[in-house]
Amino acid sequence: MIPNPYTPGQVPRVFAGRAAELRQIESMLARVVAFGELGGPLLVFHAPRGIGKTSLLRTAQRRAEELGLVTAWVACTRERPVLPELVGSLRTALERADVLPRGSAGGTWRRRLERVTLEVGLPGAKVQAEVAAPPREKPDDTLGLAPVGALGALLHDAAALVRRRGGAGLLLLVDELHVALPDDMSILLNTLQNLDGERADNPLAVVSAGLPVTPEALTRAATFGERSAFVPLDVLNDVDARAVLTAPAASAGVTWSPQALNAVVDEARGHPYLLQLIGSSTWDAATPAQGAQLGLADVRRGLPAAQRQLTAMHRARWGVATPTEKAFLAAMAATGLDNVTRAAIAAGMGKDSRSISGPRERLIEKGVIEPVGHGLVRFTLPGFGAFVRGLDEA
Ligand SMILES: Nc1ncnc2c1ncn2[C@@H]1O[C@H](COP(=O)(O)OP(=O)(O)OP(=O)(O)O)[C@@H](O)[C@H]1O
Ligand SMILES: [Mg+2]
Repeated sequence: MIPNPYTPGQVPRVFAGRAAELRQIESMLARVVAFGELGGPLLVFHAPRGIGKTSLLRTAQRRAEELGLVTAWVACTRERPVLPELVGSLRTALERADVLPRGSAGGTWRRRLERVTLEVGLPGAKVQAEVAAPPREKPDDTLGLAPVGALGALLHDAAALVRRRGGAGLLLLVDELHVALPDDMSILLNTLQNLDGERADNPLAVVSAGLPVTPEALTRAATFGERSAFVPLDVLNDVDARAVLTAPAASAGVTWSPQALNAVVDEARGHPYLLQLIGSSTWDAATPAQGAQLGLADVRRGLPAAQRQLTAMHRARWGVATPTEKAFLAAMAATGLDNVTRAAIAAGMGKDSRSISGPRERLIEKGVIEPVGHGLVRFTLPGFGAFVRGLDEA
């Protein structure tokens, strides 16, 4: 039996498409590699849930490692400050790449990593000024500096160390950036700003991802946060969507019939998670042998399992909504439209359209809905509207 090559909810086996985004990442990495300098401002990919942010970051990480960069990964959570974790991840990465010096110099490095971990993790560690002291002012005593100085000096020295040891530099990857504490965002942005002042000596880059609120959250955390490079990720185009289905199968010697492929692409509407989910359910329904072709009948037999999974996700999203948010979602669903106006939602809730901003913002933050311009919003997960309408009938 050939194992199922699809990966709903996991980093994909074959990363399809996203050529423009990968080019942008690669040009950043190329600057680090070729010139030994800062790759550019913070690169921020933003998109609703399931669009492929983490997969893109993981692909970037793999490319960077191929290019000889040492990479450190961190995912932000609401529960704890992220910067100590970032430093911890950096330490692990340096150890794994075997760049930390041996003997007493190595011990000094480790103590320093611990100090900076503490410094950036102090509860309420705040950035005093928008632009702090240049990172190289006191290279040997980071203790007395503000967290920005400590982190900046550490990143500078770590990147230089990697370079001295024959590596290309550092890549930091920060996922789920939208939930980072404002202070953490501010420290990170200020640090990058300082390092940019001495761009030539800082062979490193930071690539991040978060929900669509990320640009706003960063700009709130530090005014110049708006100078980060913001890149929205959209659903996959038709060619890439097909590749999500065909590429994993092809590597197992299995093909898709044109009808089956069209049916799934139509159903998923470019949504990468859905493509993986239906690809996976089709595969399970068919259990193909080497050289087999997946057909429309397999897609149809697989769909109920995919639907059950999707319903479980709809239910989970509904479950974490507050009563007001539920009223908002129900009003949205009741319109039966893809893109819904503020006025229509307010009318459905029996409220003034100015008074629905609270639940609207929170639902966007939770990734359940997303703005689509001109004040309109839509559900981020296909089928959610129908699910909510179904609840009414139950
Ligand atoms: N370019 C791609 N090629 C193939 N599969 C992909 C691609 N992008 C995403 N996927 C698939 O889509 C699903 C969602 O991807 P991913 O977890 O990267 O999304 P995300 O935007 O990080 O979502 P979340 O906000 O929930 O963390 C995964 O199952 C992944 O395998
Ligand atoms: Mg993700």
